[in-house]
Amino acid sequence: MTPRTAADLMRRTAVPEVPGAWPLLGHIVPMLRRPLEFLPATAEFGRVVQVRFGRMPVYVVTHPEAVRELLVPGDIDFTRGRIFEKLVPALGNGIATVSGAEHRRQRRLLQPVFTRERLTAYASIMREAAEEATASWQDGQRLAVDDVMNDLALTALTRSLFKFTASSDTAEAIKDGMQQLTNGLLLRTVLPTSWERIPSPGNIRFRRAMARMHRAIDDVISTYRTAGEDRGDVLSALLAVRDTDGTGLSDEEIHAQVMTLALTGIEAPGAALGWVMYEIGRNPEVAVRVHDEIDTVLDGRPPHFDDLPDLSYLGRVIDEVLRLRTPLVFMRRALSAVRIGEVTIPAGAEIVYSPYLMHHDARWFHDPLRFDPDRWLPQNARHIPKGAYIPFAAGAYQCIGKMFATMELAIVTAVLGARWALRPVPGVTVRELATALVRPSQLPMTVHRRSDDLRSGRK
Ligand code: HEM
Repeated sequence: MTPRTAADLMRRTAVPEVPGAWPLLGHIVPMLRRPLEFLPATAEFGRVVQVRFGRMPVYVVTHPEAVRELLVPGDIDFTRGRIFEKLVPALGNGIATVSGAEHRRQRRLLQPVFTRERLTAYASIMREAAEEATASWQDGQRLAVDDVMNDLALTALTRSLFKFTASSDTAEAIKDGMQQLTNGLLLRTVLPTSWERIPSPGNIRFRRAMARMHRAIDDVISTYRTAGEDRGDVLSALLAVRDTDGTGLSDEEIHAQVMTLALTGIEAPGAALGWVMYEIGRNPEVAVRVHDEIDTVLDGRPPHFDDLPDLSYLGRVIDEVLRLRTPLVFMRRALSAVRIGEVTIPAGAEIVYSPYLMHHDARWFHDPLRFDPDRWLPQNARHIPKGAYIPFAAGAYQCIGKMFATMELAIVTAVLGARWALRPVPGVTVRELATALVRPSQLPMTVHRRSDDLRSGRK
């Protein structure tokens, strides 16, 4: 008999189920309680394994080859899946929520936002934001570096989006909205949609924050439309975009792209910046090499886009931070029954891939918890299999902001590192907090003027 439903097909394929499912809840409890241990541990049960969110079966790909089979065919066999689908009411149909042909159209239309010329302009915005953020620092001061870096990422992105009109109200509305959106994302992914309709304080707060953010973005779009000039920022690029038939993007489409870029372009680099500061700060030998390189390459002048290839050690530090402190979970949905490795995934099934899982697997990364930028030296990196290192995913839906993000991490670190050494406060435990991303639980650090360091023989 031909199988008719996803559940029917599922029973016919021998996909190992991860032990530890609860009655009715399946693996929701371990997934919410200790996702950073639970997901990596699934790899020991097979290249493709099955867990359950309640009654919903979910496949997890745990091997680099399986990851590539999932990601590289991209929009032919798979749509977005549950995580980004849950974001449609908030984001609209922007590039991160659509699939297939519509995704290809939007990806083409968004290319002008990330040209070399535009990236060079965004680099200056990032440099200025970093200089402003550090202008009031005092030698020996203690700072909540996670907050500082989240604010910096917010400023860098909102000013890149709308260079001249990002008032503090607009920026605050976007920051608050995006925080609400990402904080509850894991919960919304694993719980049924009906839970979102309950008028709980959390759900009410969420709806208010969304409404405020939508209004702020509408106001900025209408100001730009009226002015009608290219200000060298993302919104100007979006307003200038023309499809093959000469049509531009509607306000609604632009709104969706702005929301999407704000969601994808603030939290992830904010968290990554915090981790960069933390790893450099707690690894003195890494700090010495980073500072030496910044001094040699820049010789006291501010960093530019074109300096980045010369900051090669810093590049390896960033690659290593993006390995160790990387996003936890993304999803796809199979459009039709599809074979991955040894197993057949039924049409309609949800599939998880996890950069965190892949990057913490000792088969591909020796001593995976060790922070070691030199694993990215070409002679060492060539042993890492394709599909094992995926901080920005791969294939059709891979991160369109990859250059923007790595540039931001490098420029901000170069600005800070030229003048300041950051050190973790002794005795404070910094844990990894999982949303869809992995953020530091707290990040108190002290900042030290580097000239003072040099005088006392420390860098
Ligand atoms: C360290 C920072 C970042 C990391 C680790 C990261 C990671 C990722 C990953 C893994 C995906 C694929 C998601 C999936 O498979 O469904 C993605 C998609 C995306 N990212 Fe990033 N990202 C970062 C920064 C940024 C920035 C700064 C921007 C924008 C300026 C951005 C814009 C996007 C967009 C628009 C997508 C959807 C692309 C598409 O579907 O075509 N990201 N990102």
